[in-house]
Amino acid sequence: MTLKNTPLNLIFLLVLVLLIELWALKAQSICRPKYGCDLALASYYVADDDEEATNLTHISHLFSLQIPQILKFNPNLQKNPNSPNDSIPVPPRTRVRVPFTCDCLNEDFLGHTFAYTARHGDTYRRIAQRFFANLTTEDWVGRMNLLVPTDLPDGVRINVTVNCSCGDGHVSRDYGLFLTYPIRNGEGLAEVAAENGVPAEVIRRYNVESNFSAGLVYVPAKGL
Ligand SMILES: *[C@@H]1O[C@H](CO)[C@@H](O)[C@H](O)[C@H]1NC(C)=O
Ligand SMILES: *[C@@H]1O[C@H](CO)[C@@H](O)[C@H](O)[C@H]1NC(C)=O
Ligand SMILES: *[C@@H]1O[C@H](CO)[C@@H](O)[C@H](O)[C@H]1NC(C)=O
Ligand SMILES: *[C@@H]1O[C@H](CO)[C@@H](O)[C@H](O)[C@H]1NC(C)=O
Ligand SMILES: *[C@@H]1O[C@H](CO)[C@@H](O)[C@H](O)[C@H]1NC(C)=O
Ligand SMILES: *[C@@H]1O[C@H](CO)[C@@H](O)[C@H](O)[C@H]1NC(C)=O
Repeated sequence: MTLKNTPLNLIFLLVLVLLIELWALKAQSICRPKYGCDLALASYYVADDDEEATNLTHISHLFSLQIPQILKFNPNLQKNPNSPNDSIPVPPRTRVRVPFTCDCLNEDFLGHTFAYTARHGDTYRRIAQRFFANLTTEDWVGRMNLLVPTDLPDGVRINVTVNCSCGDGHVSRDYGLFLTYPIRNGEGLAEVAAENGVPAEVIRRYNVESNFSAGLVYVPAKGL
């Protein structure tokens, strides 16, 4: 041991301390709030050519919900009092609000993973774009599954993760419920604002990273 070595040891020690702190920081949940929130909504767009989502049965299966749970958030979908729940028609080009819990996943981000049972010919792209109406992407589904995407076995359970938001205290405390809203071709901030009856400026502040021409945005929603 010479004096010359001491500074090196010191540097080594400092680097070690720094690494441990970084590791501790990473291990902490970075979700805000830490455990997510009990309720978020997904905006499920029923396309013109969607033959399955013509009533709520298909949507309730995809999201593992009972039909009355969906109806609660969609007063516009009217039920004929004499007919069974599964015959509630969903007109094409309608956005259905689907409730779900917004969890902190991998201690890293807010989302919810739905189990989708693959059928012959399914691909991640089809699952994301068609069955889950762009509430997720091919890439994001691919990252949550350990399967070979070109060869999905029939009947296998696929993780389909939909991102969500519980708000942001730095932006406003007035909103606590958020809609995960996939922007459709041709929509922009003005259309999203009009569709949801929320001022454009409010939506913009919650989605500073979005260019409002594609992808997901989070729109403040009213409760029940
Ligand atoms: C149908 O809806 C009613 C209330 O609207 C509910 O009580 C009943 O459980 C529902 N049935 C099914 C099978 O979801
Ligand atoms: C509801 O949609 C499903 C397909 O998702 C279909 O099999 C069923 O016949 C439909 N029910 C009615 C009453 O139209
Ligand atoms: C999802 O996005 C793709 C690509 O923009 C589009 O072709 C498709 O119609 C969208 N799906 C729904 C249900 O809107
Ligand atoms: C969901 O959130 C994660 C983490 O922020 C992000 O990497 C991913 O691209 C998002 N997925 C979608 C479909 O927006
Ligand atoms: C779905 O996610 C769970 C938890 O992360 C994982 O254990 C499982 O292997 C995933 N499923 C597939 C098909 O990769
Ligand atoms: C907007 O952002 C999306 C990603 O969310 C990107 O794919 C697209 O190219 C962007 N569009 C423009 C016009 O910048």
